[in-house]
Amino acid sequence: MKIRYLPIAAALAMLGATTVHAEDYPTKTITMVVPFAAGGPTDTVARLVAQSMGTKLKQQIIVENVGGAGGTIGAARVAKSAPDGYTIFLHHIGQSTAPALYRKLSYNALTDFEPVGLVTDVPMTLVARKDFPAKDFKELLAYVKANKAKVTYANAGLGSASHLCGMLFMTAIGTDLTTVPYKGTGPAMNDLLGGQVDFMCDQTTNTTSQIKSGKIKVYGVTTKTRLPSMPDVPTLNEAGLPGFEVAVWHGLYAPKGTPKPIIDALSGALLTALKDPTVKQRFADLGTEPVPEARAKPEVLRAFLKSEIDRWAPIIQKAGAYAD
Ligand code: MLT
Repeated sequence: MKIRYLPIAAALAMLGATTVHAEDYPTKTITMVVPFAAGGPTDTVARLVAQSMGTKLKQQIIVENVGGAGGTIGAARVAKSAPDGYTIFLHHIGQSTAPALYRKLSYNALTDFEPVGLVTDVPMTLVARKDFPAKDFKELLAYVKANKAKVTYANAGLGSASHLCGMLFMTAIGTDLTTVPYKGTGPAMNDLLGGQVDFMCDQTTNTTSQIKSGKIKVYGVTTKTRLPSMPDVPTLNEAGLPGFEVAVWHGLYAPKGTPKPIIDALSGALLTALKDPTVKQRFADLGTEPVPEARAKPEVLRAFLKSEIDRWAPIIQKAGAYAD
């Protein structure tokens, strides 16, 4: 009896297995999920990186905004996506705060994702509507303490960077404000510009151009030293909030089980994007910069994410900020 050996792919196909052809990846458009609304800082970082990575991979990378619940709806979507390299995920520090903030997460922030690499650490700015009655941080502090819940503070939902910064700010000053959540700080910025909300803590990738055009007020940056892109803006540390530092790191991921050759291809494209002169210039214009290559490797992000999940848990529990 002659035994005919099927090629492995055909055999697996017959078994109904989905074979991922890593060797010729990518052969079609890739979707980069951003867990916040279009037009916000996460979206801005994603579109710059996606454009450059797509050039390197010779395939289009389209950004899909899946907002809501501080980024956890988008994360859940990616965690359930096929591990075939055609769904990737760009998220920020919120990937590490969600486990402590949301007690019923439908995914594991660490084990349901394959890390591709860190992208950038973005500073934050404390900004207010143009006619807010405080000319500097000292006056802002006095106004907020005098008016408390009458003051409205915008964020992108529980677990967003703007929520985290606001939580740290309110804890630091011992005053609770009225929080107004949005699906992203892109939409929040529209209301700040229109005067419908009083202030927020948002990333320079979203606030720099509005600050420089005088359409919003800025009271400080959340970095140790002043920013080259806005040298006249004091740090909050010098303005009156000693030790107040928040930087919003951003990471790129794929679903758990994505084959290593595909992760390697994505990692190579990310490393190329982080050296892309256009990406570097746009990041600089927006007050940030790509992480150095040594920090942009998959295993570095895996270890960093774990350390951040462990770091933020007690801080969040102490602040009593969580959703059931
Ligand atoms: C955040 O506050 O987490 C981000 O600004 C959300 C966004 O990118 O819109």
